[in-house]
Formats: sequence, structure tokens, C-alpha cells
Amino acid sequence: MPSASLDTLLTVRRKFPMSTAIVTLRMLVRLTGTLLVILGIIVWAGHARGLIPVHMLLGLAFVLSLWALALLVARAGVSSGFVALVIVWGLVVLALGMAQTRLVPGHAHWVIQVIHLVIGIMAIGFGEQLVGRMPRAEAGAARA
Ligand code: HEM
Repeated sequence: MPSASLDTLLTVRRKFPMSTAIVTLRMLVRLTGTLLVILGIIVWAGHARGLIPVHMLLGLAFVLSLWALALLVARAGVSSGFVALVIVWGLVVLALGMAQTRLVPGHAHWVIQVIHLVIGIMAIGFGEQLVGRMPRAEAGAARA
């Protein structure tokens, strides 16, 4: 990175320190997201189906944290189109999760399981991108 852009980035970081709320919510998204993948795979392997309600509660905490993070970074200048996409995606994660056990029961249920996992992992990735897009947006605001 050329030193001029590094200087700009450092100035922007000083002017717009990442708020504690954003850092905390990012940690929550990472933590609940990782636990969801681990718990989901344990359930998938046929062990501990009793853990499904815990998985669902964690899923709710994950989506609420993702939404809160999306709203906070929107205020920090991240594009509203991307923020809207993440909010709708969270809704899809929640709706699919609630309907999960009823969707395509039987032999082909594995298709739903794969879709559920992929959509969930993409939601975790969106959480990372929300914060990853912040410095550039803030840099734009600083130049304006
Ligand atoms: C990042 C988000 C999520 C990830 C990565 C994730 C991952 C997984 C995985 C790998 C499984 C095992 C395979 C399967 O049965 O589909 C699973 C099962 C399940 N998940 Fe999630 N999940 C997420 C969010 C949610 C949410 C938000 C809910 C509900 C509110 C939910 C409800 C369920 C249910 C009910 C099952 C058991 C389904 C069955 O036995 O057929 N999940 N999850």
C-alpha cells in the first residue's frame, strides 16, 4: 500500500475509531456463527438431537447480532444496498431454520441440510464484510 493511502487510512481510523458496540457485535456474530456450525455438524452426524433447541436459540442470537451490526455500520456509511441485502439474508436464515425440519422430509432432506449450511456460512461471511467495508466508506466520508 503506498504510504499516502496508509496515512489517509490512519487519519480515518483516528477520526472514526471502531465503536465498542461494533467490535462487540462482530465478536458475537463470529462466536455464535462458529458455535452454530459446530453444533449443526454434531446434530447432522446424528448425535445429540436434544441440542437442536440450543442451536435454534443461538441462531436467533446470531441473526439479531447480524442485524444490529448491519444497522450500526449503515450509520458509519456502508452502502444501504449491502446493508439491506444482509438484513433480508438474516430473515432467510431465520425462516429456513424455523422450517428446517419440515422441508423436504425423507430421502432428499440432505439437499435442505446443505442449503441451510451454505446460507448460514454466507451469513457469517456477510458479517465479516459489513465491518470490512467500513474503512473505505469512512475514507469516502473523510474526503467529502
Ligand atoms: C449461521 C447460521 C446457521 C448455521 C451455520 C447452521 C448450521 C446447521 C447445520 C450444519 C445443521 C445440521 C444439518 C441440518 O440438519 O441442516 C443445522 C441443523 C439445524 N438448524 Fe441450523 N444453522 C444456522 C442457523 C439456524 C437458525 C437461525 C435456525 C432456527 C432458528 C436453525 C435451525 C436448525 C434446525 C431446526 C436444525 C435441525 C434440522 C434437522 O434435524 O433436520 N439453524 N444447522
